[in-house]
Order: sequence, then C-alpha cells, then structure tokens
Amino acid sequence: MANDQSSPAPAATDENRPNVVKFTNVSKVFGAGPAAKTAIKDVTFTVEDAPAKGELITIVGPSGCGKSTILRIIAGLKPHFPPSSGEAMIFGKPVAEPGPDRGLVDQKYSLLPHLNVLENIAFGLKLRGMNRSERLDLAHSWTRKVGLDGSEHKYPSELSGGMQQRVAIAATLVLRPRILLMDEPFGALDPGIRLRMQELLIQLWKEQEASVFLVTHSVEEAVYLGDRVFLMAARPGRLVEILNVPRPEESPEQCRRKPWFIEFSQSLLKKLEDVSEAPATVGV
Ligand SMILES: Nc1ncnc2c1ncn2[C@@H]1O[C@H](COP(=O)(O)OP(=O)(O)O)[C@@H](O)[C@H]1O
Ligand SMILES: [Mg+2]
Repeated sequence: MANDQSSPAPAATDENRPNVVKFTNVSKVFGAGPAAKTAIKDVTFTVEDAPAKGELITIVGPSGCGKSTILRIIAGLKPHFPPSSGEAMIFGKPVAEPGPDRGLVDQKYSLLPHLNVLENIAFGLKLRGMNRSERLDLAHSWTRKVGLDGSEHKYPSELSGGMQQRVAIAATLVLRPRILLMDEPFGALDPGIRLRMQELLIQLWKEQEASVFLVTHSVEEAVYLGDRVFLMAARPGRLVEILNVPRPEESPEQCRRKPWFIEFSQSLLKKLEDVSEAPATVGV
C-alpha cells in the first residue's frame, strides 16, 4: 500500500551488503565463581563491507586486554569462542564455527615441519580438494609474490623467522579468506624485515580485497597499516577508542618522517600509556 509516511526508500545496493563483522556488546568470561576472569567486556564495533576495498583494522592495547580473544571469537576458535554474552556476527550471520571465509595468522607461524615451502603453501588447497598440479602451480605463484622463489623446496627448519612468516602468510592468503586475522604476525621479526613485511602486507591486501584485523604492539605499525586503529584497555578488556587514520602512499620509512605521522603516532602512544596505567589492583 502506498504511504508517504512509510519507511525510507530501500537503500542503495551497496548499503544492503551485510556487514563484514559486527560485534554488539560482546563479552567473554573465562571460568566461574571467584576465579572468573573477564577477558573482554561489552565490545561493540562494525566493519562495513566496502565494495572492492576491504578495511584494514589494527588493534593495540596492553597485554591481556583481550586482543587475541576478539580475533579468536571472529575465527570461531575455542576456548575464546563462543562469547559469554553479546552477539558476534560475520556477513550478517552469527559466528558458528571456523570457516574458509576467515584465515588466522599468528606469531607461531604454524607451519608443518615435514612439508617444504611449496607443500606448506599448498596444504590448505589440498584439503579443499584441488588437484596436485593446480595447487602446486598456485603455490609457486605465491612463493614469488612473497619473495620466496628459490626456496620452494626448503623445509621450515632451513628458513629464517621472516621467511617462515612469509610462508605462513602465503599459506593463508592463497585460500583467499574474506577476513584475514593476524595476531602479532611480525612480532618476532627483525626491524628491517618487519618494515618489508608491512609493505608486502599492504600490497597483498590491495590485491585481495580482504578485510584485515591485525594485532600489534607497535604503535607505528598500527598507524602505518591501519585504516582504523582500535585502542583497547585491560581489566576488564574493552575497546576504548576507534581512531581513523589517513592511508599513507609512501613506504614505512618515508612515512615515519612525515609530521602528521609522527604526531599521530605520538598521540596514540600517549593514549596507550594512559590506558596502560590502570589503577593498581587491590590485593595482588
Ligand atoms: N584460555 C584461557 N583461559 C583463561 N583465561 C584466558 C584464556 N585465554 C585468555 N585468557 C585471559 O583473558 C584475558 C585476555 O587475553 P588475550 O585475549 O589473550 O589478551 P591479549 O591478546 O590482549 O594479550 C587475559 O587476562 C587472559 O589471561
Ligand atoms: Mg594476544
């Protein structure tokens, strides 16, 4: 029935795309009774589905503020998943279990020691039933993308930390997850290699159109990589501020010298120090 007072006209198509991730008052408590520990409390945020452009979100906060908990709830991984209360949705549906639309890379690299570089990258494709020649071809192309050509037949024990991490990233990205979850992925790398990995991540991310969540201890990494920075505080773990960051066009080294970048990083560092100076807990 026609009615001038009716609900607004249907939104444009782009606006009808379900949000990539939506958390509404998500809390997680481990244990029960006096030993209960609140990992995160009332975390609420939305990552919209921007057509042809995923968003890159960086998460910073003191140890134990629930950064890994958030990533693992999105991934559907126990024991962090399911949340104790609140709603965690991906693509418009509650998270139910891990799935191929999400990939998690953490600091431990998670490579299979008995498989070489190519086989490690191709492993997930094998599980998906892709035939051998196809998956090895694809794995080959990824060794080039992450700068590991020439090392295809090496085993993880023969690789440096930076090389192992590139294999882990390739093994995850080759599966084209729509949501890429990275938990301090560059934490164990030397500073120089870390900057190259940041550049590589940006380049691969632009090609893939994935939405990325990246946890980092480095304020500069958070500012360089993030479209938005989620600032968290501990006791209880919570999201205290979301900062929008301009997208740098330069390399990390060039960017670090720009006045806006220095100012932004210093301001974030100050905020991080403020939230880290939590009031002393009684009876420790
Ligand atoms: N499996 C678990 N069992 C009990 N407590 C946990 C578990 N995992 C994490 N926690 C607690 O939840 C809080 C948040 O942890 P986590 O998400 O790992 O923090 P972050 O990644 O920011 O360091 C911490 O206090 C931690 O001790
Ligand atoms: Mg963690």
